[in-house]
Amino acid sequence: MSTQYHVAALVGSLRKGSYTRMIAKEAIGLAPSALAFEIVDIGDLPLYNQDLDDEKHPPAEWVAFRDRIRPMDAVLFATPEYNRSVPGLLKNAIDVGSRPYGSSVWDKKPAAVISVSPGAIGGFAANHNLRQSMVFLNMPAMQAPEAYIGNVAKLLDSNGRLTSDTTRQFLRTIMESFASWIERNAPTPRTPERC
Ligand code: FNR
Repeated sequence: MSTQYHVAALVGSLRKGSYTRMIAKEAIGLAPSALAFEIVDIGDLPLYNQDLDDEKHPPAEWVAFRDRIRPMDAVLFATPEYNRSVPGLLKNAIDVGSRPYGSSVWDKKPAAVISVSPGAIGGFAANHNLRQSMVFLNMPAMQAPEAYIGNVAKLLDSNGRLTSDTTRQFLRTIMESFASWIERNAPTPRTPERC
């Protein structure tokens, strides 16, 4: 695959030692070279308040975030599970990007979800809560292979690197599948010259 796609990676944890961020970084490192990733910080986004859009004075952080996501070709969501759902941090970023009405930065962007948990279920509920939002956001979400990374603490060393060849190969497969998914679903094919 020679085409270059720009992919925003959003991580749903602010924790210093976030397993989710570690897994996201490892996954990005295993992705085909056709995908150029940027991890976009979402920790400084003020909570969404529709009044600020309606009154046409959105916070500068929202504007910068929307401007950063808009030109991207695709989005990778890496999320922990909080109370069997998506952390508020990530949901807030999704809400901010989805408005003002009719100007969603997510529209038509292919997406993939990796959920991560120290527990055995691998963030299944968060993964599927996110997919539910993607229906409304009109984001084609990669159906399979699905990525539920459970028992994550056992898969990483103290430097945040994968210790398991099986997981490494699994994440490589996820990212190769995502590259094919983007190629099939991205609204506009991109070229390296665009970089
Ligand atoms: C959690 N955790 C958790 N884990 C899980 O598998 N299912 C869940 O529903 C929850 N709920 C939950 C709520 C809240 C408020 C917190 C703080 C934590 C545990 C969670 O998976 C664990 O803290 C992870 O380490 C969080 O991901 P990061 O920060 O390591 O990426």
